[in-house]
Amino acid sequence: MKKIIIFDTTLRDGEQSPGASLDIKAKIEIAKQLARLGVDVIEAGFPIASKGDFSAVHEVASIIKGPSICGLARARKEDIDACNEAVRSAAKPRIHVFLATSKIHMKYKLKKAKEEILRQAGEFVKYARNFCDDVEFSPEDASRSDVDFLCRVVETVIASGAKTVNIPDTVGYSIPMEFGALINTIKTKVPNANKAVLSVHCHNDLGLAVSNSLAAVQNGAEQVECTINGLGERAGNASLEEIVMAIKTRKDLFGRFTSINTKELYKTSRLVSKLTGIVVQPNKAIVGKNAFSHEAGIHQDGILKRRATYEIMKPEDVGFGGTRLVMGKHSGKHAFRDRLKKIGVELSDDDLIKAFERFKDLADKKKEIFDEDLLAIVEDEIISVPETYKISGFEYKSGKNVEPRAVIELTKGNTVKKESSSGDGPVDACYKAIEKITGIKFNLMDYSLKSTTSGRDALGEVSVRVMSSGGIEVSGRGTSTDIVEASAKAYVNAVNKVLFTKTKKTRLEL
Ligand code: KIV
Ligand code: ZN
Repeated sequence: MKKIIIFDTTLRDGEQSPGASLDIKAKIEIAKQLARLGVDVIEAGFPIASKGDFSAVHEVASIIKGPSICGLARARKEDIDACNEAVRSAAKPRIHVFLATSKIHMKYKLKKAKEEILRQAGEFVKYARNFCDDVEFSPEDASRSDVDFLCRVVETVIASGAKTVNIPDTVGYSIPMEFGALINTIKTKVPNANKAVLSVHCHNDLGLAVSNSLAAVQNGAEQVECTINGLGERAGNASLEEIVMAIKTRKDLFGRFTSINTKELYKTSRLVSKLTGIVVQPNKAIVGKNAFSHEAGIHQDGILKRRATYEIMKPEDVGFGGTRLVMGKHSGKHAFRDRLKKIGVELSDDDLIKAFERFKDLADKKKEIFDEDLLAIVEDEIISVPETYKISGFEYKSGKNVEPRAVIELTKGNTVKKESSSGDGPVDACYKAIEKITGIKFNLMDYSLKSTTSGRDALGEVSVRVMSSGGIEVSGRGTSTDIVEASAKAYVNAVNKVLFTKTKKTRLEL
């Protein structure tokens, strides 16, 4: 069986999901988890886009062992120089150069003729090869490009030294039969096609990213670019977990394998969801909360008689379920560190102390602490946005025929401020009080609440997505056994992110 190379672009295309901006510490945590998951290539960012992106790619390249570390670059000298600087410390660096080849992009965006694009593509692949043996080229908007021209571009970049040629369906326009046929045409018509790995990168605008990628695999694609939870520009990219489990579950059909440790899928999905603030829909294939739940009586009966009647994959194969009771309030720091290690989390000494304090607080309120609770605590600690404002006091009242009211006390450095407010409910009252103190007003675009585990004493986890009056969109998260407190924490987390983001980055348009 041939292997399909899994190229993960969660940290680059995935980070282009609106509101999903990740700081360096979060990127490193995700990269470590991607390495544990067993991806072959991590695309860590677009180094020329901002100082933050450059440093994140550089850090990931220096720290992460195992996968190739890739950075994105336009077909320009400055981009490739920055990309080379950022990835060169990796054991296996890769430079990914892209240039659009569709008529509409060439005419309106690049204002360049076909021959000039052909020359530029070849020239900058050669330039990148001066620094790095592993160069990938993507003809952006390939699926809307003239096929004969696309084949000429592919032939030119391979002759110029590209080791991988990636065919993107940039705007998610293609459908499976058509996209599979395009891959087949490139494989058969381009004379030197067998000298490079053929890859695909599909967007999900019509909900077909996974199907298109799989059709490409059936037609000879050897690498698939994808993201955890299907994150990415607009409607996102092909979801890694769906691609991997389709290839595994239907190996009878694909005759291919990946080197992904599928037992790490669920944990990776959770980590990415927490750190980006983008909640996974419950009915999402493979990693959604309901993906292995059986509601109908007939189904439950079937499952009890023989699991395979209604289950094509085992939940444990994707690391789902079987939450285990692990710790309680008498557990010490060593046991805490050991348990975290077993679930694949290693923290610095400082982060461990902070996480342990949180664990003790939680253990006072909650009898049984599950792995999911530990992950929630840890994921809270690894967000490295400075805590400009911290909730130091909090009270609310609400009930039938009682006007909801909240008092919030926030500490900023040595200053403590307290405000109270009424609202449409206790959460609204808290948010109004926080606004009074910080002077930052948000438009609340999304609010979601879920419990990290089952049971009445489970931690409530609130995610908010907000837009500041200055047009900055951020997410915020908070966890607590009190859901109003979790809501307030999520809001303050978003305030801190806005204050941090203001000083942080401006993103280049692709
Ligand atoms: O969607 C796209 O075309 C891209 C390229 C940069 C590969 O993300
Ligand atoms: Zn893309």
